[in-house]
Amino acid sequence: MYMKSFVLLVLTLFVSKISTEYCYYRHGKESNGSYIECELAGTGEPIEGISLMHLERNTTISILKRELLAPFPNLKTLFMTAANIRKIEPDAFTNLTLVMVDLYNNKLEVLRRGTFSGQKKISYMDLSYNYFKNLTAATFSGLIGLEWLSLNANQIGLIESSALNDLVKLKSLYLRYNKIPNLHVDTFKKLVALEILDLSMNNLKTISAGLLSNQGQLYTLLLDFNALENITDGAFDKTIALTYLDVSNNRLRELPEDLFNNTNRLEVLRASNNQIRAFNYTILLSKTSFLREVLLYNNS
Ligand SMILES: *[C@@H]1O[C@H](CO)[C@@H](O)[C@H](O)[C@H]1NC(C)=O
Ligand SMILES: *[C@@H]1O[C@H](CO)[C@@H](O)[C@H](O)[C@H]1NC(C)=O
Ligand SMILES: *[C@@H]1O[C@H](CO)[C@@H](O)[C@H](O)[C@H]1NC(C)=O
Ligand SMILES: *[C@@H]1O[C@H](CO)[C@@H](O)[C@H](O)[C@H]1NC(C)=O
Ligand SMILES: *[C@@H]1O[C@H](CO)[C@@H](O)[C@H](O)[C@H]1NC(C)=O
Ligand SMILES: *[C@@H]1O[C@H](CO)[C@@H](O)[C@H](O)[C@H]1NC(C)=O
Ligand SMILES: *[C@@H]1O[C@H](CO)[C@@H](O)[C@H](O)[C@H]1NC(C)=O
Repeated sequence: MYMKSFVLLVLTLFVSKISTEYCYYRHGKESNGSYIECELAGTGEPIEGISLMHLERNTTISILKRELLAPFPNLKTLFMTAANIRKIEPDAFTNLTLVMVDLYNNKLEVLRRGTFSGQKKISYMDLSYNYFKNLTAATFSGLIGLEWLSLNANQIGLIESSALNDLVKLKSLYLRYNKIPNLHVDTFKKLVALEILDLSMNNLKTISAGLLSNQGQLYTLLLDFNALENITDGAFDKTIALTYLDVSNNRLRELPEDLFNNTNRLEVLRASNNQIRAFNYTILLSKTSFLREVLLYNNS
């Protein structure tokens, strides 16, 4: 009984601590004179003490400038979702040491080189539901500590071969629901820590042999709802930790059992809704002793 109320009290204190930071965007003329106002309800803490900024939805910031964030030198966590941000000035985060950046559901199309230079502590970034079309070497330059990145539901049609090269610590990459037609063989070359890769709902036609050659830690690979016609022999030879593979809802005519020669830890294989003509479970099982689910319905 005592224990319970103690836990409850600690929880309440914790929740009230993180929920007392209220931030509002106050409009000036055009974007001149606009500012962000935060209050720490019930404490005398100065405004510079703010480390978590969670802006109200439906603001119209349009351009994220250094002046807006400069009053908050301790800022570590930035949530600005559905704020209509179109642009981030390259010096907007200068002198801040950010850890989490959530810009979900804005109108961003480009990040200029330098935007994240020096931001080695950012480990989490959500850029889903924006307007990115083209990821270049400039887009993510400097994000050498990033572990989790979502770019779901943008309009990405091009990823330059070196665009992701700084993301050497990235573990989870979400690219679901974009328009990616193909991937250069070097796209993921530097992403040696990658564990989860979601490429579902794109326009990929093939997976080339070298694309995942440095992904020895990858355990979840989602390729469903693309236009895959074939997967090149050897494509999964280096993904030895793979446990979950989804290639359903594509146009695969065959799924050679040899693809799984080295993915001995595979547990789930989903390949329904393709045009696969023949598949030998006996061979698959001889390579994958942990297999517990195979879906192959709606095939030829
Ligand atoms: C905004 O401020 C700049 C200088 O600070 C000035 O040149 C510009 O005319 C202002 N724009 C508006 C719309 O007030
Ligand atoms: C945002 O604003 C639009 C238009 O004013 C409104 O329809 C919508 O419900 C608002 N959304 C939220 C989450 O407040
Ligand atoms: C960053 O901080 C340094 C040292 O405090 C200061 O000189 C510089 O003007 C700041 N830069 C920006 C862009 O705020
Ligand atoms: C992608 O962005 C780069 C750099 O801004 C540019 O050179 C290239 O033309 C763009 N490609 C497309 C297809 O928009
Ligand atoms: C993959 O499919 C395409 C289109 O059907 C074909 O041109 C290509 O030769 C195939 N590649 C392999 C390795 O089977
Ligand atoms: C896959 O393994 C089988 C038997 O274990 C072997 O005959 C075949 O050559 C291997 N294929 C590849 C592409 O390594
Ligand atoms: C599947 O492969 C095994 C081992 O190669 C073979 O003995 C068996 O006949 C094959 N089954 C079918 C249906 O082709």
